[in-house]
Amino acid sequence: MDLMLKDKIVVITGGAGSVGNALVSAFLEEDAIVISLDKNKERGEERVKQLKKSGKRVSFIETDISEPSSIDKAFNAISEKFSTLDVLVNNAGVFSSTPVLDIKPSSWDEIMKINLRSVFLCSQKAVQVMMKKGYGKIINIASLGGQTGGIFASAAYSASKAGIICVTKTFAKNFGKFGIRVNCVNPGPLESEMTKDWPPEVLNSLKKSMLIWQDKLGMPAEVAGVIVFLASDKANLIHGAQIDVNGGIYIS
Ligand SMILES: NC(=O)c1ccc[n+]([C@@H]2O[C@H](COP(=O)([O-])OP(=O)(O)OC[C@H]3O[C@@H](n4cnc5c(N)ncnc54)[C@H](O)[C@@H]3O)[C@@H](O)[C@H]2O)c1
Repeated sequence: MDLMLKDKIVVITGGAGSVGNALVSAFLEEDAIVISLDKNKERGEERVKQLKKSGKRVSFIETDISEPSSIDKAFNAISEKFSTLDVLVNNAGVFSSTPVLDIKPSSWDEIMKINLRSVFLCSQKAVQVMMKKGYGKIINIASLGGQTGGIFASAAYSASKAGIICVTKTFAKNFGKFGIRVNCVNPGPLESEMTKDWPPEVLNSLKKSMLIWQDKLGMPAEVAGVIVFLASDKANLIHGAQIDVNGGIYIS
């Protein structure tokens, strides 16, 4: 199926991470033009350097999405270079498993800035460009934890992800009429940087809860595939939705 993403300008936050890498590759496979934003300059630049060697149209902008001025700078640079923007994937995020009673106000705020406020601010930037052309797709990465609340995942992480689901619906309500589609995906646990140090008993229990297999987690590429579809015009009727990408874990 041709997803017709060729030449689309795609911005991916957290492009240097596990899901970010998979997203960058998946969009490049569709011949899109990809801009990866991440605060990890070394990893982000190295990855882009490798991809460029095989002729891919990809660039990296060092960005700290917890800082509004850094977001402004990145989106200004994108506007200057490409003068448009077709797809934004709000993927960057940090995990926390701090127990409820140990969360300090400062760490709560930090998680909210990185995981939630950034999604709002980047989306604000993106819709201003997208409204002008009457076209755009925004896909946010929330989480299973944002639907269920967390026991291992901290209250701050889960709440930030629940907030992303709400921001998704709010942007969908406000900007659908401008030709902009806004959706989010809720991944379950994945083989990734984020989960690599989780205790084995937590990982084993999660694996056992997945209904499609019992001995492994999902893969970042399996999330990226869904997002690429949501970014395409084939998914035009999907709007304000949250798509579970979790192997049926905790199905109700
Ligand atoms: N891995 C999982 O099991 C899982 C499950 C559900 C949801 N998610 C969500 O998927 C997304 C991607 O997760 P991942 O597994 O690839 O994690 P990851 O840690 O591999 O990647 C996250 C990326 O975000 C970047 N980042 C963090 N803070 C940043 C900041 N302030 N500014 C810019 N970049 C920043 C990191 O440098 C990293 O490259 C996250 O939003 C995460 O919450 C992941």
